[in-house]
Amino acid sequence: MCSKLEPSDKRTVHQETNNHSNLQFPPNFVWGTATSPTQVEGRIANEWTNFTARDGGNCHVACDNYHRYPEDIEWMVKLGVKAYRMGIEWSRLQSAPFAPLDETELVRYCDILDRLKIAGITPMVVLHHFSNPDWISANGGWLNRATVAAFVDYVTKLAAALRGRVRIWNTFNEPDTYASCTYLIGEFPPFRKWRFKSFFTVIRNMAGAHLKICEIIRRMGSDCGPVEVGFSKNWTFFQPFHKASPWDHALAAASHAAFNRFVLRSFLGGRRKGASTFIGLNYYGRVRFRHCQPLIPTFGHAHEALVKMGVVCDDMFERHPAGMELALLKLQQQFNLPIYITEHGAASTDEEFRERDLKENLAALHRAIGRGADVRGFFYWSLLDNFEWQFGYSKKFGLIEVDFSDQKLPRKMKKLGHIYRQVCAENSAPKPERPAFNHPAQS
Ligand code: FCB
Repeated sequence: MCSKLEPSDKRTVHQETNNHSNLQFPPNFVWGTATSPTQVEGRIANEWTNFTARDGGNCHVACDNYHRYPEDIEWMVKLGVKAYRMGIEWSRLQSAPFAPLDETELVRYCDILDRLKIAGITPMVVLHHFSNPDWISANGGWLNRATVAAFVDYVTKLAAALRGRVRIWNTFNEPDTYASCTYLIGEFPPFRKWRFKSFFTVIRNMAGAHLKICEIIRRMGSDCGPVEVGFSKNWTFFQPFHKASPWDHALAAASHAAFNRFVLRSFLGGRRKGASTFIGLNYYGRVRFRHCQPLIPTFGHAHEALVKMGVVCDDMFERHPAGMELALLKLQQQFNLPIYITEHGAASTDEEFRERDLKENLAALHRAIGRGADVRGFFYWSLLDNFEWQFGYSKKFGLIEVDFSDQKLPRKMKKLGHIYRQVCAENSAPKPERPAFNHPAQS
C-alpha cells in the first residue's frame, strides 16, 4: 500500500485558470513540504551538536520532532500535503564506518514512514542534508575520498532496509551551499575559510558518491513503484548591482561558474546525466554584488537600506520570483529531466510578505510549466519553524509556528499555512495581485 506520485500530465496543460481565475496546476502535480533532521529532530549527536548559532541557539532540542513526529504528521494532514521531503540522519544509524544499521533508530524511521503511508503522504528521503557523524568529520569529512565509500555503504544498507517503504530518494541537498559554508565562508563545521581547492574537492567527492548511489538505488528498486533518484541543486542568480561595474560583474560570473555551472557539470555532466531520474531545484532568489559585497541581510546589510536600493528581501536573501521560471527553463533545456522544486520558502514574521512571495513564485512556476518545464511537484520550506543552521531560531520559515520560548514547543498553523492548505486542496495558486517584486531577470 505504497502511495503513488504520478507524473504530471503535460498534455492537459497548464496556462489555465479555474473559475476563481486562479492558476491551475496539472493533474497529479504534487504539493509537499520539507524539513531536515538537524533542524527539527533534536537529541542529535553529530558535528552540529556542540555548535552555538548567532542567536545563541543550538540544535539539542530543536522542534523535538524526534519524539513528536506523530503530531507533526497530523499537521501535514491538516495542511493537506501529499508529499514530505524528510531527511534520515546518518549519525543515528551507524556508529562507525561500515557498521550495521542501528535497529532501534531504524524502527523509529520506519514508524514515521508507516504513519506517512497511512496519512497518504509520499516520502522523498534525503540522504545527506548538511550533517555528518562526528567520526566522518574527524577523518576529514568530504575532503577525504574514504568518506565516499563509507557513505555508499551506509546508503546501500539503508536503501535495502527501506526499499519496501521508499520510492523517491534525494541523495545530496545543495552540495554547493554545503561546500561553500564549510570551506569558503566558514559558517558550517569544520568552519574553514577561503579554501577554494577544498570547495571543489567536496563537490567532486559528493558527485562521485551520487553517481554510485544512483546506480545502487536504481538496481535495487522499490516495492512502492518506479524508483526516482536525484540530488537538489540550490540555484542562485548572481548579478552585479550596477551593470557597468567590472569587479561586481567578474565576481558574479565567477560565483555562477563555481556554484552553478561546476556543480551541475559534476553531478549531471557527460555520462552522469543518465544516473539521476530527476533534478531537485531549491530556489530562493538571487544575490547581487555591489562594491564586491553581496547585498543580502545575512551579510550584515540592514533591511531598510536594502529596501531603499530596491533590493526586496526576506530575512535571508533577495527575492527574485521571475528567476524561478528562468532557472526551471534552463534546467529543462539543458538536462531534459523531470524536476521537483525540493525547496522554496521565505523567512519573515511578516505573513503578508510571505504570502506575496509564495504567490509570485507559484505564478513563475506556473509560467515555466506552461512553457514546457516538466515540473512534478513543489515542497514548501518548511513545515515547521526550525533551527536555521548558523542563524539559529531567528529565521521563521514554517507553515506551522513553533513557540521556542515555551518548553512545550507548542505548534500553531500560520496564516501562510492556511493559504498553502488551499493551494494543496485546489491544486491551484491565487494570482499575485500586485506587480512583481523585481523586474524581470536579466539572465
Ligand atoms: C536551504 C537549506 C535548508 C534551509 C533553507 C532555508 O539552503 O537546504 O536546510 O536552511 O535553505
